[in-house]
This record gives sequence, structure tokens and C-alpha cells, in this order.
Amino acid sequence: MAIKPRILVTSAAGNTGLPTALQLREKGYPVRALVRSDDHRAKRLKDAGAEIFIGDQYSFADLRHAMEGVQRAYHCAPAAPNVLHFGSVFAVAAQEAKLEHVVMLGQWLADAQHPSVGTREVWLNEHVLNLLPDTTLTVNNVGWFAENYFWALESVAQLGILPMPLGDGTIRKNAPPSNEDIAAVNVAALIDPAAHAGKTYRPTGPELLSPNEIAAIMGKVLTRKVKYQNVSEALMLKALTVAGFGEMMPTQLCYYADEYRRGAFAVNAPTNAVRDLTGRDPEDFETIARRIVAMRPEAQRIAANKLKAIRNFARILTTSKVEPAAIERRRNHVLLKSPTFVGDSQAWRESHDPSAGYNSLQPHSKASSHPLVSDLVA
Ligand SMILES: NC(=O)c1ccc[n+]([C@@H]2O[C@H](COP(=O)([O-])OP(=O)(O)OC[C@H]3O[C@@H](n4cnc5c(N)ncnc54)[C@H](OP(=O)(O)O)[C@@H]3O)[C@@H](O)[C@H]2O)c1
Repeated sequence: MAIKPRILVTSAAGNTGLPTALQLREKGYPVRALVRSDDHRAKRLKDAGAEIFIGDQYSFADLRHAMEGVQRAYHCAPAAPNVLHFGSVFAVAAQEAKLEHVVMLGQWLADAQHPSVGTREVWLNEHVLNLLPDTTLTVNNVGWFAENYFWALESVAQLGILPMPLGDGTIRKNAPPSNEDIAAVNVAALIDPAAHAGKTYRPTGPELLSPNEIAAIMGKVLTRKVKYQNVSEALMLKALTVAGFGEMMPTQLCYYADEYRRGAFAVNAPTNAVRDLTGRDPEDFETIARRIVAMRPEAQRIAANKLKAIRNFARILTTSKVEPAAIERRRNHVLLKSPTFVGDSQAWRESHDPSAGYNSLQPHSKASSHPLVSDLVA
């Protein structure tokens, strides 16, 4: 019987890492799950048969150790500052370990000239990983996750309002993918590098939805009326501060919300990636919403939760204004003189042209090197 390769899953307690690790275990692959703490998520992974590695993804020593005896890996930079650091540490360790194949979580918006430093760093990571001579790469360039709408679950469930700065509520601007479908694409590429090396995928949900439709589906699942409210970025920033998001992510989210309003996530969406790689249809938003709502205590309509939601709403209104430009200057974010939103980028539009298929033109042209190496040995 063929021996299955050992697969390292980074960010294994996160949105996409957890289902990637669990789905790989369901298929019988040995999984090393890199987490940063031994909590209930680590227990879930352990119970599924994964080997737990507690480490810091900024640390080369940890990544080097985590890759010992590993043949393939899922690289997911946490939603945290210094994405380029995560990617470079991973790349150097992967090169040393001579991994045969890596699947990387990229971004739908990834472009060299993007105004978001986080997005440019994701783009750089992709290109650095693609330079590794012994390792093939598949890139999973996902857009605005379905999960993101549930950042506002407390307000949605308790107050009946989905407040987000997504612009006109009637325009269909996103086909939100589930974490499970993003993971299923990762898994397909991890277990069959020969079929997926050198390719970029853009998984989406099954249909484009407007913010009003998303609010209506959340309302159906929660059995209450939910109204989408287009709010200012200033209010979003205050809400993220109250929710404890730190400084870095909110500055980048302003760019992503801007792209959302411009319709960038609707360009050539929905895609067939989930169906093509898994042989089944992507999950629809109602299915995703039912699963998330069932897991989250703030969705329960009880007096204590409603009181908490009202208190948090008052805290948002009284929180000091957040100045993203000042934060970016203070944190020394690399800012371009002439950044380009993706809709205005010729290179990005070409890379999102469905007629180009799944073979990125450049630089993801390497096919799987491993059958070639063994061919040479034979
Ligand atoms: N959300 C979107 O719409 C979207 C769209 C496209 C691409 N992306 C990409 O998605 C990526 C994030 O993926 P995700 O949402 O699956 O991950 P995630 O939920 O942010 O999970 C990251 C995990 O890594 C852990 N972590 C954080 N810092 C760490 C460190 N220094 N060392 C070790 N572990 C660390 C976190 O631990 P704790 O849980 O303990 O905090 C968390 O479990 C980002 O690179 C972003 O560019 C997101």
C-alpha cells in the first residue's frame, strides 16, 4: 500500500486551517497541525488524529522543526501584522526541508500595486514561494469569506441590523465561499500535486448576493427580520476596536471594503473552482449561516445577550475616532505613491480572466517536479 505523505497545516486552529486539517485526516493523511496554543481547537485536531505542534509562525526555529519529516504543507499566514515575515520564514524552512508541494492561501485581490500593504505582502509571498527550486505551488486566491459577515453576528441576532460599509444594498457584489469549501480546494491540491501544481484557484460560493440578500438569509436562519445598514468606514473601525481586532487588520479592512463597494469581488464570480476540484457544488450562504449560527453563543436570543449587544453598541458610539492613515504612518507601513485598486489593474484583470483557465500565465508555470525527478532517477 502506498505511504501517504505527511502534511503540515499552518494556522491549523484558524478559519481555513482547521477544516483543511480535519478534511485531510478524514482522507487518512498524516497531519501535523501547527497551532499556537493547546486549547479546545487543538483538542479537536488531536481527537481527529492530527499531531499537534505548538509554535510561532514568525519563528524560523519553530517552522524548521515543524517541517521535519514533512513532505507537503498548507501555508496560511494568520490575519496578523507582518504577513511578509510569515511567508519568508515559511519559504526558507520549506526550501531547507525540500517540501515537494505547498498550497498557499492567497487573496482574490492580490496584486503588486495594491494600496493594502497586507495584500501586497500576500502577493510577494506567493511569488517568493514560486521561486523555490524543489517545491511546486498551488495558490488558493479567495475573496471575501462568508465568515466575515458573522463578525456582526451579535448585532444581527440581537438588534436585527447587519451594519457593514459595503455600499448599495441592492447590488450583488460577492459570492461568499465557506471555510469548508476553501479547505476542500486546499485538500484537493495537497493530495494531488501532479494535477494542481502551478495553478491558481479562486473558489467562491454558488451565487452572487447583494448585502440585502445576505441580511435576508441571516434573518431567515435566525427567524427574525434583519436589515442591512450601509455604515461609514469610521463606524466599522470603531466597532472593530470594540471587538478587540487590534490596529493592523482594521486599516487593511478599509481597503477591502472599498474594493467590495467597487465590485472587485464580483469580477468573474461565481467560479467553478469548488465543483471542478471537489466534484460537488459549493455550499450556499444559508447552509453556511445555519452552521455558524448553531455554533455561536451570541446568536441566542436571550435577554442577557440583547443587553450585551445594546451595551456594545453604546461603546461603539462613544469610542474615539480611529484614523487609519495615522496608524499606517505610525506603524511604518510601506505605502506606494501610486497604488492601484484591482479594477484599474490590467495585470489583475488578465489574471482573473476565466478564459485563461487555471494555469496562471506567470510565474506559476512549474508543473509538479516530483514525478520528473523520479523519472530521471529511473
Ligand atoms: N477573511 C477574508 O475575507 C480573507 C480573504 C482572502 C484571504 N484571506 C487571508 O486569510 C488569511 C487568514 O486565514 P484564516 O482566516 O484561515 O486564518 P485565521 O482564522 O486568521 O487563523 C490564524 C490562526 O493562526 C494563529 N496565529 C496567529 N498568529 C500566530 C503566530 N504568530 N504563530 C502561530 N499561530 C498564529 C491564530 O491563533 P489564535 O486563534 O489563537 O488567534 C489563528 O488560529 C490571511 O492571510 C488573509 O490574507 C482572508
